[in-house]
Amino acid sequence: MTLHAPECAASVQPGQFVHLRVATGSDIILRRPFSIHRAYGERVEILYQILGTGTLLMAEKPVGDESMDLVGPLGHGWRAPEGIAHALFVTGGLGAAPLGMLAEQLAAHGVAVSVAMGAPTKERLVARELFENVARQVLVATDDGSDGEHGFVTVPAARLLAEERFDVVYTCGPEPMQRAIAALAADAGVPCQISLERLMACGIGACLSCVVLTVDGLKRACVDGPVFDAAEVTWKS
Ligand SMILES: Cc1cc2nc3c(=O)[nH]c(=O)nc-3n(C[C@H](O)[C@H](O)[C@H](O)COP(=O)(O)OP(=O)(O)OC[C@H]3O[C@@H](n4cnc5c(N)ncnc54)[C@H](O)[C@@H]3O)c2cc1C
Ligand code: FES
Repeated sequence: MTLHAPECAASVQPGQFVHLRVATGSDIILRRPFSIHRAYGERVEILYQILGTGTLLMAEKPVGDESMDLVGPLGHGWRAPEGIAHALFVTGGLGAAPLGMLAEQLAAHGVAVSVAMGAPTKERLVARELFENVARQVLVATDDGSDGEHGFVTVPAARLLAEERFDVVYTCGPEPMQRAIAALAADAGVPCQISLERLMACGIGACLSCVVLTVDGLKRACVDGPVFDAAEVTWKS
């Protein structure tokens, strides 16, 4: 979905999100958070899947509809350390959404980007074309084997980490996948950043509905994240 949001588009950093008020009815009181996939001109683009009432209403909106209200950009996005030469992106399904703009920006600054992208099926591989346009290589894995390697994306990601030198790993997807990638990156001695999803009510740090347990105590995904250093996060056992 493309949204006309000039101020947001002008200031967004890769990995930040928008908080959308989808409707004003009583069953949709809370805003819904969505990663900003890309920004261009006065527009921001999000990729979303229909999960419940809010996303269903979004999918039904006609082009030009002005009923939605947007707050953003919100949160802390990806960090690009000085002097990186090669970055590995590992995505699971819609986890590709917050990495689109980062891939474009790194490639524009001469950073080589390699991508390992996974999804349950071929149809659920998102943003593949964008990655193929900017990345040095894109490896694909699907759980059902309908495209690329048959199996989890952790397999090509582990292979890339063993065979090539990376300065940073960026990952977003289902939490077990992110946890596995964080462990692989730690074993390879490569810093890793993850983007965590939490249920969010306020989106601005006030309600504590989005807490993440870290080595420094509880943090809020909406303002301290959604991007965290993987080494900072304490995973539930
Ligand atoms: C920082 C952030 C970025 C996100 N980016 C994207 C994105 O780019 N694209 C996208 O499709 N979705 C994204 N999400 C998830 C998105 O916010 C939810 O899918 C959306 O709020 C569902 O709204 P709904 O009204 O359709 O569903 P609801 O009726 O609110 O919920 C339907 C079902 O989805 C579950 N659900 C709701 N919110 C979340 C959530 N945050 N995480 C996991 N499960 C949830 C509910 O528990 C319920 O089972 C993001 C979430 C966060 C926190
Ligand atoms: S959503 Fe309210 S504190 Fe994060």
